[in-house]
Amino acid sequence: MKLLIKQIKEHEKIANLLEINAIERQHLMNQVFTFADEYIESLSEARSFISKKVKQDSLKVKSKTKSIDKILAIFKDEVTENGIRTASGGHIGYIPGGGIYASALADFLAAVSNEYAGIYYVSPGAVEIENEVINWIKDIFSFPKSAIGNLASGGSISNLIALTAARDKHKIKNEKIPKSVVYLSHQAHHCIHKALRIIGLEDVIIRYTQLDEFFKINSVVLENQIKSDKKNGLNPFLVIASAGTTDVGAIDPLNEIAEISKKHKLWFHVDAAYGGFFILTSKKDLFKGIEKADSIVVDPHKGMFLPYGLGAVLIKDAKAVLHSHHYSANYMQDAATDDLLKSPANISPELTKHFRGLRLWLPLQLHGLKPFIACLEEKLLLTRYFREKLKTLGFNVGPEPDLSVSYFWYPVKGNQNEFNKRLMDYIHQDGSVFLSSTILDNKFVIRMAILSFRTKKATIDKALTMIEKSLKKTKKEFKINSD
Ligand SMILES: Cc1ncc(COP(=O)(O)O)c(C=O)c1O
Repeated sequence: MKLLIKQIKEHEKIANLLEINAIERQHLMNQVFTFADEYIESLSEARSFISKKVKQDSLKVKSKTKSIDKILAIFKDEVTENGIRTASGGHIGYIPGGGIYASALADFLAAVSNEYAGIYYVSPGAVEIENEVINWIKDIFSFPKSAIGNLASGGSISNLIALTAARDKHKIKNEKIPKSVVYLSHQAHHCIHKALRIIGLEDVIIRYTQLDEFFKINSVVLENQIKSDKKNGLNPFLVIASAGTTDVGAIDPLNEIAEISKKHKLWFHVDAAYGGFFILTSKKDLFKGIEKADSIVVDPHKGMFLPYGLGAVLIKDAKAVLHSHHYSANYMQDAATDDLLKSPANISPELTKHFRGLRLWLPLQLHGLKPFIACLEEKLLLTRYFREKLKTLGFNVGPEPDLSVSYFWYPVKGNQNEFNKRLMDYIHQDGSVFLSSTILDNKFVIRMAILSFRTKKATIDKALTMIEKSLKKTKKEFKINSD
């Protein structure tokens, strides 16, 4: 026994290094908070895109420890000074968000308290906050109180949860799979395809519905496809629409699709990961019909400007969700409760999960909703401003977008795609603002996705100066007259 106690004490001494004392905590906090402040202050001037090789050696985990200053220096050099500066307003390439500070503070509190947000019994307050956030989102989309929801890591997992519920509601398994049909648009996000594969539906029939000139689902064609598939003995069961596509920000005709789905008894899913929160703005009418969906996905880490790590799914049919996600186990017997739907673990593949609700709940309590709505309206206006200015520089722009994603290209005779690709290279080399590209109707186009809460008019003006400079260089290279 004596030896045992001696050994415990020896190990305890070393293990206690993990429990940092108050003075040291203060020091670490000061260093980290100073770093964060300087980082935020530098954002408006810093380049939004830098491409360099990571010095992997400096990231190696070695037995020798490092000071916080050294660690922060590595973090700066290898992480924040490399790639797209996604916290910057100059990130208008892929769908951004930005990462509001209040959420970072909430994450800090969630981590320090280490609340267990998966099971009601373990952390009722934390789970009530998760559920309150879900109720708040239900209200926004006029979903009934009886609908259930989950706060997942992002849009991909949220879509996966929704599609799993659709599969289970319609009992799509085994020999039924090859005859079952899913309807979607070529503009659907690729995570939908991934989800179908992951949940065992790789072999369903996928019907891509024809799109109109605004890249939206043509609902007449959709209904004809469904009718014809039914006539041919197939099993249509799921329609997937988008409320804000990734490439062009288009909102499919949700109300028409909702009616068609209802008439033919199909599950209607809406991926509103990017566009959903624009329902709070002057664009509200475009979302008509979303309340009729069986499931929707919306990402607060996009439209509510949160740091990455929060997507939400809402589903009306609770039974369908529980089928795949509710499980009991002997070691969980103390947590068993009649109200299965109160515990997030019964609605998601996750058991232990980060207390994500706090990162949305705290900012809403602190700021109220108004600044979020103003920020979304601002993004819509900035998109219009950017497009108008691009036209004056001689660019062609895509059709009037529903939301804040759009695209443009410089028209040249002959090798237009090559020209625009080169232009994109120059824009990336400059990096003062980050834009991305995509292919639409076989055309290489440059894409803007304006959603960071830090994107301001000054950012767009900076982008225009960069584009003008890059255009000059490209024209010179392609021997095109600059006048
Ligand atoms: C429309 C849409 N759906 C789903 C996703 C995937 O979301 P996440 O990247 O959060 O997994 C995205 C990402 O941009 C998206 O734009």
